[in-house]
Amino acid sequence: MIEAKGVRKSYGHRHILKGIDLTVETGETLIIIGGSGMGKSTFLKCVIGLARLDQGSISVDGIEIGRLESEQDWARYRRRIGYLFQEGALFDSLSVWENVSFGLRYLTDIPPSRYRKIASEKLELVGLKDVEDLKPSELSGGMKKRVALARAIASDPSYILYDEPTTGLDPIMSDVISDLMLDLQKKLNVTSIAVTHDMKLAYKVANHIVMLHEGKFLAVGTPEQIKSSDNPYVRQFIDGKSVGPIHMKLRDFDPAEEAEEQGRLRVS
Ligand SMILES: Nc1ncnc2c1ncn2[C@@H]1O[C@H](COP(=O)(O)OP(=O)(O)O)[C@@H](O)[C@H]1O
Ligand SMILES: [Mg+2]
Repeated sequence: MIEAKGVRKSYGHRHILKGIDLTVETGETLIIIGGSGMGKSTFLKCVIGLARLDQGSISVDGIEIGRLESEQDWARYRRRIGYLFQEGALFDSLSVWENVSFGLRYLTDIPPSRYRKIASEKLELVGLKDVEDLKPSELSGGMKKRVALARAIASDPSYILYDEPTTGLDPIMSDVISDLMLDLQKKLNVTSIAVTHDMKLAYKVANHIVMLHEGKFLAVGTPEQIKSSDNPYVRQFIDGKSVGPIHMKLRDFDPAEEAEEQGRLRVS
């Protein structure tokens, strides 16, 4: 079970997460939806420990990440959580199997002689065969996502965090990835959090959906509840409307930058 309580995170003077409370029960898939730049990736990075919380706590199976100290503690924690990066983040110079097994040397004490076999097993779980020796540049977008997914499950994690698993893929490949997520949930009995704005994916794989908006979670519900939500923010997002309470800005608004710019304009 993943539990977040009062999570706050800022970058400089920009408050990204403003008090997030969340529980993800064991075995369930939680989907986080929300506009670009709302802090969805930041939240996942807080869970995996790539970003530090300013306030609040996150614990996984009762172990609070703020209390992990030694490198060993961290490695033990990290090997239980697979992470699918938003950008895929495969190493171009490494072969597919080297990419898949990359984390094992840091996270486990599995002997390197077994890496290739483990990589092949994980690749098979995501429906890829005979690709071990290819380089990422030789793969299609959908295959890259699957390789990244094979890497996320390499250390047999109990949890998987997916950051926009279908972004950049065509609708059919997106559906293939959705099925794969359901399959992994069943076969490996994993608990997952996935960040996406692909509502088809969200409705298909979620047990619960939450929407992140302005640093807080709005409206938690099952897919059915979210589909029929009358929260105007949720409605605008899931219906994909440009008109509504959410105002899209053409660029990220930075109050300090804005003030500076106005100052500059006044002077000149
Ligand atoms: N390491 C960082 N340093 C400074 N600002 C960051 C950093 N990471 C993300 N941000 C900013 O925080 C905001 C939220 O980013 P992110 O979590 O990536 O949003 P999302 O995944 O919802 O699109 C964005 O405005 C982004 O520019
Ligand atoms: Mg993101």
